[in-house]
Amino acid sequence: MQARILIVDDDQDILNALKKRLTWMGHEVLTAEDGERALRLATEEAPDLMLLDIELPDLSGLDVLKQLAEKRSGLPPQIVPEVIVLTAFGTIDRAVEAMRLGAWDFLAKPFDPDYLSVVIEKAMAQMALTRQIGLLQTEVGGRYEHVIGQSPRMVELLDIARRVADSSATVLLLGETGVGKEVIARALHRWSPRASKPFVVVHCGALPESLVENELFGHEKGAYTGAVRREPGKIESAEGGTVFLDEIGDMPAGLQTRLLRLLQDQEFYRVGGVQPIRTNVRFVAATNKDLKEAIQEGLFRQDLFYRLNVISLTLPPLRKRPEDLPGLVDHFVRRHGATMGRRPFVVSEDALELIRKYHWPGNVRELENALVRAIALCPEDCIEPEHLGIKVRRKLQMEADFAEDDSLNYHAVVEQYSRKVIEEGLRRAGWNQTKAAELLGLQRTYLTKLIRQMDISTKPPTT
Ligand SMILES: Nc1ncnc2c1ncn2[C@@H]1O[C@H](COP(=O)(O)OP(=O)(O)OP(=O)(O)O)[C@@H](O)[C@H]1O
Ligand SMILES: [Mg+2]
Repeated sequence: MQARILIVDDDQDILNALKKRLTWMGHEVLTAEDGERALRLATEEAPDLMLLDIELPDLSGLDVLKQLAEKRSGLPPQIVPEVIVLTAFGTIDRAVEAMRLGAWDFLAKPFDPDYLSVVIEKAMAQMALTRQIGLLQTEVGGRYEHVIGQSPRMVELLDIARRVADSSATVLLLGETGVGKEVIARALHRWSPRASKPFVVVHCGALPESLVENELFGHEKGAYTGAVRREPGKIESAEGGTVFLDEIGDMPAGLQTRLLRLLQDQEFYRVGGVQPIRTNVRFVAATNKDLKEAIQEGLFRQDLFYRLNVISLTLPPLRKRPEDLPGLVDHFVRRHGATMGRRPFVVSEDALELIRKYHWPGNVRELENALVRAIALCPEDCIEPEHLGIKVRRKLQMEADFAEDDSLNYHAVVEQYSRKVIEEGLRRAGWNQTKAAELLGLQRTYLTKLIRQMDISTKPPTT
């Protein structure tokens, strides 16, 4: 990786030797012979890295470090280069002081050129990582920090969310996939007195039980083979903040028991631990599963459900809140148009009409993805229906059309129609029976019964 490196040393020979070496390594090199110039170049030329001699004529290297630290933590914070300090042999205490002031590493003169390369490579790798984390943080923050909702149902829901954010009561967020449960979970944290503390996400269903357990509760040294040291879990690392238990409906049975105990007692044990650990975290849980149904099927503990269900908020599917569409469309077009570095986009009337008619089974996430795709595909600055990649499904053909000699057996005819409706429901729900039941306005168990009675296929047709 090529870097822009500023070398600061008052010894012309060292400056030249280092410059030669670093240029040979493929880096771009700037030089300064005193601290004042070093600080000026650090701001004006934005080098990635600074090699800084501690013994300088006017401002000492330590003073330069102090001023860089101020710039970094000032308002607004400035991007300053990482610093590798060059020290003379025998001045190790000053090197230690330099590290305390924020230097990345130090090199004692005279140093081995190969060692110099290693230290620089390491510093560069670390910087790349830090930048990537910074970008990801802006990306994640950006994705979840705006809560759009003008529809009466969302206005009401957001009003309740704001009011309960203050308390430490557990909140359960329900709703189909992509409706914005994580958006609300993060908003609850942001609006709470815990906002300056961590918000930690645990995906309860994604991993095998023992791994989720480890992730949540951490472990003691020697708890199992490979547990070479004590590691805190996510609950500990969220101390004072919020733990978001995502996909709670998929949490393995054994963990449900442990979580229940934690919610009851506000304390837990690390894996392999004997000392209870008290916690102060707020729990927000979310699922797109029907927990009542999971309870009936014996997959979810009823007592845990009651514990989680202290305050529950159900996010309506997007098709039930058309008033939110213009605001969401505008928000996504602006946000993604800007990150893709494109001109401002407009969405044509026809495209908006299609967006209003479509039923959005993947909810806000699907809308967002359709718009990202449209922005990428659209050659001009106006999004048209064909850029969206969605199709309004055909209307159900429901008129009864009888030939004179058709059987009019009431039950047979009604069954024929029921079958049609159920098959269409399954298809629209992507063959997910829980979703199909919701679309059809039926209890999931009743739908299963009808499917069995009529011997309806629950899989997509193979051709
Ligand atoms: N009210 C909203 N305002 C702005 N953006 C939203 C809103 N609701 C959802 N989004 C966006 O839609 C996407 C999906 O939202 P989110 O991840 O919160 O959904 P979810 O309900 O957690 O879905 P899943 O059940 O699949 O995990 C995110 O990129 C989010 O930014
Ligand atoms: Mg989610």
